[in-house]
Amino acid sequence: MFNFAKKTQETQNIYFKTMALKYHKKLEELSSLDTPFYCYDLALLRETLNTINKEIKGFPYAVHYAIKANGNRTILEEIRRSGVGADLVSGNEIKAALDVGFKPEKMAYAGVGKTDREIETGIDAGIYCFNVESVEEMDVINEIAARRGKAAGIALRVNPNIDAHTHRYITTGTSSDKFGIDKQALDDVVEKARSLSNVRLLGLHFHIGSQVTLMEPYELLCKEINTLLDHFEKKGINFEMVDVGGGLGVDYENPEANPVARFEEYFNVFKRGLKVRPGQMVHFELGRSIVAQCGALISRVVFVKENAVKKFVILDAGMTDLMRPALYGSKHKIVNLTSQSTRQVTCDVVGPICESSDVFGRDVQLPFTRRGDLVAILSAGAYGESMASRYNMRSLPQCHFIE
Ligand code: LLP
Repeated sequence: MFNFAKKTQETQNIYFKTMALKYHKKLEELSSLDTPFYCYDLALLRETLNTINKEIKGFPYAVHYAIKANGNRTILEEIRRSGVGADLVSGNEIKAALDVGFKPEKMAYAGVGKTDREIETGIDAGIYCFNVESVEEMDVINEIAARRGKAAGIALRVNPNIDAHTHRYITTGTSSDKFGIDKQALDDVVEKARSLSNVRLLGLHFHIGSQVTLMEPYELLCKEINTLLDHFEKKGINFEMVDVGGGLGVDYENPEANPVARFEEYFNVFKRGLKVRPGQMVHFELGRSIVAQCGALISRVVFVKENAVKKFVILDAGMTDLMRPALYGSKHKIVNLTSQSTRQVTCDVVGPICESSDVFGRDVQLPFTRRGDLVAILSAGAYGESMASRYNMRSLPQCHFIE
């Protein structure tokens, strides 16, 4: 388990400097804006990226940001400037990454259902690697690359059958999940990959799940990878790259104390556990841990109503803006930015959408809250804006940046 208590005074200060205080300081400016909107703290994003770069310095490691977590252009530009690459899951994500200047040689493209057109986009862009999920997909990539007189770099996504102990919707590395190639089939697939003329087998790819807060699954993953690399080494096969996926979790309960994810602890697992061969690179595909804490969804209280058993604080933000609570039952910390009251109330914080799952938090403690108050839903930078929808014909949420 993460030792969240091990946070440094320095990181605490960063939070208080950036989030709580900043939102309050900017209140006048924020209050004049139309709600709901995402507010991104670029200073915290930079701090997070610096921490990652500090941790990987001197190691044969490369981080690719999983754009699916947040494809906002300003965020992408900031991440690209830090030197991190891009992990992509659609043709449009490839185009967006190219558009903000990510280098194709720092791009990996994953997904169980890549269409021919998307594969063409990747090959034409000259991306470094396709993370391949089946023999059929490998054949199609080979054919398309052949037609274009090119060789596509590929990594085989292995399903390691490791339980990441996270929500079942975001567990990806067990045999009942749709992802990857079974270990039992791997020898044959590697052999086949090496026989194809228009794919170049670069390595193996893994991803066990998302919002992983335990380190044990990553320790198991290292062991699994070591065993596989030894196995192939004995057969005279060495890979130039191994991709360990992403998934590092963040502290949703207490983001004030832990604005930066436990990167030191996370990378140490791989530094200690993974037997990297000479010349081999290790790739990481982090999404949530890079952007979750730098974003908050800012919303205005439309009404407060009470019935015999409950008090409801009804926001102008709904599950269409942030669908994580409705989809996964996930918890985000909610703060009232404008109330001066010292009186606490217990309430359900809900959205305006015609679904009973449109609830941001049940039995939340807030200072006395009124119509017109401004509320921040924290840790919403990852899988928030990127999963927004137009259900109920609502407008997509706007975004603003603070430093
Ligand atoms: N690599 C692969 C192959 C993935 O499928 C994912 C996420 C990542 C990397 C990045 O994982 P991260 O570091 O962000 O955990 N919508 C869900 C999360 C879905 C994750 C999908 N795959 C949520 O809001 O919790």
